[in-house]
Amino acid sequence: MRLSIILGTRPEIIKMSSIIRKCGELKLDYFIIHTGQHYSYNMDKLFFEQLEFPKPKYNLDVGSGTHGEQTGKMLAGIEKILQKENPDVVLVEGDTDTVLAGALAAHKLQIKIGHVEAGLRSYDRRMPEEINRILTDHCSDLLFPPTEKSKEILLEEGFDKKIIFVTGNTIVDAVYQNLELANKKVNILKDLSLEQNDYLLVTAHREENVDTKENIEGILKGAELLSEELNLPVIYPIHPRTRKRLEEFNIIIPKGINLIDPTGFLEFLQLEANAKLILTDSGAVQEEACILKVPCVTLRDNTERPETIDVGGNILAGTNPEKILECSRIMLNKERNWENPLGDGKAGDKILKIIIGDKEVN
Ligand code: UD1
Ligand code: UDP
Repeated sequence: MRLSIILGTRPEIIKMSSIIRKCGELKLDYFIIHTGQHYSYNMDKLFFEQLEFPKPKYNLDVGSGTHGEQTGKMLAGIEKILQKENPDVVLVEGDTDTVLAGALAAHKLQIKIGHVEAGLRSYDRRMPEEINRILTDHCSDLLFPPTEKSKEILLEEGFDKKIIFVTGNTIVDAVYQNLELANKKVNILKDLSLEQNDYLLVTAHREENVDTKENIEGILKGAELLSEELNLPVIYPIHPRTRKRLEEFNIIIPKGINLIDPTGFLEFLQLEANAKLILTDSGAVQEEACILKVPCVTLRDNTERPETIDVGGNILAGTNPEKILECSRIMLNKERNWENPLGDGKAGDKILKIIIGDKEVN
């Protein structure tokens, strides 16, 4: 059994980490194709170093571009590699352009595809990610939805239940496997002179938010109002897309908001685990907040992760400053006693078990 893992962005590296680690432990015949969608050191190599992964066998170095250009370059590059290597199964995770390109390339060569994190839907067709995840699910031979809810969505869309396996989300594996390590290896609170439970953590990078001046200004204003009301600093590790837009729009960063470079996964986990509140438009950060039992305010009008809201760990605020403030007040009054609805931390093992058969995975 020969397995090809295709990835290209920061969250895919993190969410594939438990699968890659297990492949190594079991000495499976696998190789990694990196599309190079993310390439800055702190969006890419840093994670390979921290998570102690082997270097990808291939890196297509596609870099940035329009969605069509980026996806097209990846499709052509991945196809060539798959023709040469002829794996039995290709594994993709999530909803990026890398994921769609990987799934399309494999499908056209009739190679079996496994989609990790299948069945998520925001029902917002303006998001590039929504189209990517729908098309990828529909190309796939094995679907690994994280929850019963995402399985239901797939069943409603007419997929055969025989190809659907609820595994939990691999982000739970990544959090459980790295939290303790983070506390041993890094101390970002000390580095940034922060106290536990005494700061707010913000991330925002989503195209529909940061590519529109009004939306990113709304997010910053909301964070500023909250920071003033609570008299707490805001820490905002800034995604390269957002940094670029802030410069283009000539936006002045309000007082109390501290922009920092994107951090490693261990540092970020520590920042999340000790924050009073997390404000984010990231998919994985909504999940991590929920797993770590830190209240989360989502800077979007919808989410493909409704389980986090259902258990009481998340709320949708959009980008209006007053609404961000109001939702933050609600979340700060919640008890942090919700259950983690996203899995038991063994999703990677379960996925490999299904792909290669019971015997080899314990
Ligand atoms: C992509 C994914 C998004 C995911 C995010 C994770 C798609 C459609 N979007 O968005 O779903 O949430 O990754 O972070 O696949 N840039 C750099 N260095 C890098 C990467 C990007 O400077 O290493 C800058 C470039 O200016 C680039 C911009 O960020 O144009 C956007 O990068 P891109 O990969 O196109 O989209 P993301 O916003 O990162
Ligand atoms: N993350 C990180 N450093 C940061 C910001 C985020 O390591 O400075 C991690 C975070 O823990 C999560 C992932 O990156 O696992 C989220 O990536 P992103 O928000 O870019 O993508 P999304 O999940 O929205 O697709």
